Amino acid sequence: METVIAQVPLTDAELKLLQTLIYQECGMYFDERRAHFLKDRLQRRLKTCQLDSFYAYYRLLTSREGKQELALLLENLTVNETSFFRNKPQLDLLQKTVLEDLLHRKQERRDWTMRVWSAGCSTGQEPYSVAMLFCDALAYYYLRNPLPFEVPSPKPLIPPPWKLEVLASDMSYAALRTAQEGAYSETHMEPVDYTTRLRYFEKAGDKYAVKHALKELVQFDFHNLKTEFLPRRNDIILCRNVMIYFDEAEQKRLIEKFWHCLNPGGYLFVGHAESLFGLSTKFRMVHENNGTAYQRLEAAT
Ligand SMILES: C[S@@+](CC[C@H](N)C(=O)[O-])C[C@H]1O[C@@H](n2cnc3c(N)ncnc32)[C@H](O)[C@@H]1O
Repeated sequence: METVIAQVPLTDAELKLLQTLIYQECGMYFDERRAHFLKDRLQRRLKTCQLDSFYAYYRLLTSREGKQELALLLENLTVNETSFFRNKPQLDLLQKTVLEDLLHRKQERRDWTMRVWSAGCSTGQEPYSVAMLFCDALAYYYLRNPLPFEVPSPKPLIPPPWKLEVLASDMSYAALRTAQEGAYSETHMEPVDYTTRLRYFEKAGDKYAVKHALKELVQFDFHNLKTEFLPRRNDIILCRNVMIYFDEAEQKRLIEKFWHCLNPGGYLFVGHAESLFGLSTKFRMVHENNGTAYQRLEAAT
């Protein structure tokens, strides 16, 4: 017989208090469509904490002792869905147009460092995909424009003098741990083709582990996008499928922060179902073969 667990009643006032707290902490906004998900997660956390009212739970979350529970609640509210090479047309645009443009401009200025930030990286497939695309783009670039000196053999993934720094951040510690581990099941590897697996992965038990040389290009860190202090001087920012969970005011604030976190002429990538339309005039849209990116405009300072 199925056991029915009694649910603790959640009043409208308590729900509002909790919704506001969550919004203030991380920008996530639960409209009517997602209220059911929020209520379900709140019930589960309340049960784990063995509390008998949501007001008591709210008091815990706002207390000094409740910091850890607050982080756990936020983590339980995140949607971590991701995949390697997600939104292929957009990544083709990144590799073929955006990286080409940045490589040319940087080489002219003799600036050899490329900084990419994957904001809301979940379990790591996005930043690792970008690192692989960058290594391939650079190899192809040098096939056509050979370096004036011998590159040591075996060729490093990033030939000198270039340097790639991929910062990957999230506010879910569980997702960051998986990302840092960098070992993926056959199901997760489905979008990764045969040659890419050979070049960047090695078999570890029944999983595929990201090779050390690629792994060391990516640095994982905790960042809550709601905060003011975010990593600056990026050439590319990917914040895909994160802003859909924010309301319009928070989206506007975040895009403004991204503008400041990009180098002049840098590019922002948002998710397939997201756009900057109506949210900012400080970017130029670049659209090619179903892929979209937004380039920071300078006149708008
Ligand atoms: C659906 S996943 C997207 C992953 C990846 N960017 C992609 O498109 O495949 C959304 C991620 O955003 C993170 N996230 C949500 N709100 C955040 C915030 N305020 N600060 C940092 N990360 C956040 C979640 O933890 C989750 O891992």
